[in-house]
Amino acid sequence: MLILFSVHAYAQVITPWVAPPEANALINPIAGDKDKLANAHILYNNYCAQCHGYKGKGDGPVAAMLNPHPADHTSPSVQSQTDGALFWKIKTGRGQMQPYADKLTEQQRWSLVNYIRTLKN
Ligand code: HEC
Repeated sequence: MLILFSVHAYAQVITPWVAPPEANALINPIAGDKDKLANAHILYNNYCAQCHGYKGKGDGPVAAMLNPHPADHTSPSVQSQTDGALFWKIKTGRGQMQPYADKLTEQQRWSLVNYIRTLKN
């Protein structure tokens, strides 16, 4: 009797996404600027929420289809990163998270970092 095993590797091995050390040294030029938050909220809803969720919990309408799932921006693993690391990731993208270097200005990307800070807890 012949027993055949069929092993399918469905799960991709996903390595943690770590920004390069130089990203941590980037200075947020609009740190604490609350005036930009209203605009950033609109940007977030238009560009990010379909994946990251309207409250940033990583549960947007298309999130379940993505592997890895979009990050939960309220979580300690995101909130503990430097502004520069988050800015760098928004600029660079990875996998299904596309790069926003050409789609958003630097100031818009920094304002999104500030907005992500407001999503904590
Ligand atoms: C098409 C879905 C999608 C959209 C739209 C999207 N993201 Fe993402 N995002 C992801 C996925 C998936 C990951 C996880 C990528 C990985 O780990 O490889 C991610 C990761 C991130 C991370 C890194 C989180 C961590 O754990 O370090 C940040 C920051 C981020 N996204 C911000 C944004 C912002 C800001 C926008 C809007 C400008 C946005 N994303 C739009 C899917 C998306």
